[in-house]
Amino acid sequence: MSLWMIDVLTWLPQSWQDWILPATTIPVVQNHPSKVQLSRISHVYFDHGDLEAFDRFAKDFGFVQAERKGNSIYYRGYGRDPYVYVASQSLTRRSRFMGTAFVAKDQENFDKALKLPGAVIKDIGEAPGGGQMITFARPNDTFFHVVHGQTERESGTIPTATHDSQGPFNTPLEKPRKGYFQRYHDGPALVHKLGHFGYVCKEFEEELDFYTSNFNFVHSDILSLPQLPHIDVMTFMHLDLGKAYSDHHSFFLQRAPPGTSKTYIHHSSFEVSDFDTQLMGHKHLAKKGWKSVWGVGRHILGSQIFDYWYDSSGFKIEHYADGDVVNEDNATRKEPVGPISVWGPELPKDFGDNKVK
Ligand SMILES: [Fe+2]
Repeated sequence: MSLWMIDVLTWLPQSWQDWILPATTIPVVQNHPSKVQLSRISHVYFDHGDLEAFDRFAKDFGFVQAERKGNSIYYRGYGRDPYVYVASQSLTRRSRFMGTAFVAKDQENFDKALKLPGAVIKDIGEAPGGGQMITFARPNDTFFHVVHGQTERESGTIPTATHDSQGPFNTPLEKPRKGYFQRYHDGPALVHKLGHFGYVCKEFEEELDFYTSNFNFVHSDILSLPQLPHIDVMTFMHLDLGKAYSDHHSFFLQRAPPGTSKTYIHHSSFEVSDFDTQLMGHKHLAKKGWKSVWGVGRHILGSQIFDYWYDSSGFKIEHYADGDVVNEDNATRKEPVGPISVWGPELPKDFGDNKVK
């Protein structure tokens, strides 16, 4: 439905609107111990038409190669996950997103996932950190993975490729950094971890139901069309960890606009340490000739400082810092779709489009 048709619809009485466009409301969901409990998002899989070109992008983006094995390169951040991005050479030369993996809370929850319809177990023992993985093939060539038994990396320090010295920020009223200086040099924004990903989804209701009824995904923010509040079009979901806090969203689903031929990933997003790192990373990617999508700016829902780029295959990929965390005390919020940044460059008109080569 085009925008002018939506405008026409809003002039009609409610009963006519409901008849032409029935309400599509996203139900608020609660976590339950019977669902598979996931503890965090872990890594993504992509097939790239030109793996060597992606490898050049990956270095400039701030990934560190953990291991290269056969057709695949495992990239890590400096967090606990043995890898956060697996890039493989596409045998057909067609670039494809091959799904995201989340970590099961424990063996019991991994076994619970294995009992879900469509679960296929895979040995990932050859990959860095080892472990096991369950893959669910979902509609439109999308995949969802659950991992367990990986050996985690030692983490806890924040390495940098850009900061020579950085002390606390001096504010107008307090100057805790006394007599020493903020000094930086050119380099990539080193990645900490995978933060989130999301689909523009053709099978919106079906997929929403699969993920929220089987796993501990709950809605942080549900968005409706401003002109038609009974039409929900997007949700940002977090993993419910009870009293423990988790990122405002690790997964989002957007209802595919009419005319979309296939479900596609909108973007994947990786955490960096701070604002200076992001701006230094932006400068580095630009200097290396990569194409900016949108950024640097500050989101509203999730609050992240964002910076989106096209990778070598045309997938959108984001650096973010300073995202919100929520827990069971944060109720699901419902609101109309509004501006998605509080500051930053103007939103590109093609931000929602799929440009994968
Ligand atoms: Fe994002």
